Amino acid sequence: MGKLIIDGGGKVSGEIRVQGAKNAVLPILAATVMADGVSTLKNCPKLRDVDKTDLVLERLGCKVIREDGAVTVDTRGMCDCKICEDLMREMRSSIIFLGAIISRCKRAVVSMPGGCPIGLRPIDLHLKALKELGVEIQEEHGYIKCAAPKLVGANIHLDFPSVGATENAMLAAVCARGTTTISNAAREPEITDLGNFLNSMGANVHGMGSGVITIHGVEKLHGADHTIMPDRIVAATYLAASAVTGGEMCLTNVNPRDMDAMLYALREMGVKLRVERDKIIQTAPERLKSIHTVRTMPYPGFPTDIQSPFMALACTARGTSVFVENIFENRFQNVDELTRMGADIKTEGRTAVIRGVKRLEGANVVARELRGGASLVIAALAANGTTTVSGVELIDRGYENIEKYLLECGAKIRRE
Ligand code: EPZ
Repeated sequence: MGKLIIDGGGKVSGEIRVQGAKNAVLPILAATVMADGVSTLKNCPKLRDVDKTDLVLERLGCKVIREDGAVTVDTRGMCDCKICEDLMREMRSSIIFLGAIISRCKRAVVSMPGGCPIGLRPIDLHLKALKELGVEIQEEHGYIKCAAPKLVGANIHLDFPSVGATENAMLAAVCARGTTTISNAAREPEITDLGNFLNSMGANVHGMGSGVITIHGVEKLHGADHTIMPDRIVAATYLAASAVTGGEMCLTNVNPRDMDAMLYALREMGVKLRVERDKIIQTAPERLKSIHTVRTMPYPGFPTDIQSPFMALACTARGTSVFVENIFENRFQNVDELTRMGADIKTEGRTAVIRGVKRLEGANVVARELRGGASLVIAALAANGTTTVSGVELIDRGYENIEKYLLECGAKIRRE
């Protein structure tokens, strides 16, 4: 396992151009298979999860070319509609290919995605939505076998605004006969980015971001070019990395309008923010204030993905903060590791109570999953002495070259 060695205590100040959004590019890469043609995605982040998605595309018979920040997918050679167990185990979010493959091939076979460190990650809402669109589904021997001789538009209601279920329903509906509505749909900006890409392919999708998405089925889609939206979670992570050290950070290529809940929380903790169209300039105080209560919610609520990174801020803030994780059942795995660094955190079920201490101490800690790993990096930047964060491959899943960006902002960090 690779590791990051961080000497804490210095300010993290500088300018970072924010990478493209992982949670937008993954469903959009899956959507490319719905057209028999060539699509080019610009501002594509260099991430392990993108590499794995490229592999899925190649296994399906597509050609994938990556060059300086763009990825081109040629799906004219697509010859398979199956995602095997090895790939699905590597990356469970490949389940997002289901709707896209069904749309193109009218059938699909995917290995059950299973859970991950942060939770069981069921897909019942995905399958229920696909069945409403006329997909016949068999689950056997760990595989999900889908057949859709004809996809028919339907009125779908999601019991929970699941991001993945919304995306799979959208992908399966764009070429279904007739009109589909998805109510209680996820409103995340990544859904809007996916809908915009689908429309550039010739689809007819409306209402993204509103909670009710309407899709008028079309005959065929064609390849398209698209620029991936900025990653709002990575943006907030770098703001946190600077804020915890009392630094000054300027983010460019960012969309502040996607980040209201996170910017509100940062202001409550005492940072000063200047927000422009695609730029955020942050100035942090020597020591942050605690945040009264953070509750993770579906968008536009406080994002679950930034809960762990922001918990690291609360560890050295003045006062007591309370975090309630309402989305995933096991998203406090970083707590043990933060405690090793001297944090004072008590958890009970989905609630964590963090009493701010003056300083954390460097220690050897282990990343158990992507965002928990990012929170350990943030804590290490403010800690006294040296911290070793093992499991950096997990952080690489969502953060492009994290040490390069932080090094350029004055952090003492290296990869081993
Ligand atoms: C997406 O996961 C993101 N991943 C996650 O980001 C993010 O945390 C999550 O949305 C919530 O915003 C990608 O986009 C690749 P959900 P997804 O379906 O689609 C329950 C990261 O760190 N649920 O909205 O899997 C589920 O158990 C990752 O970048 C069902 O019960 O999230 C969870 O409690 C982590 N049945 C809740 O909904 C279902 O069929 C939210 O899950 C589907 C979901």
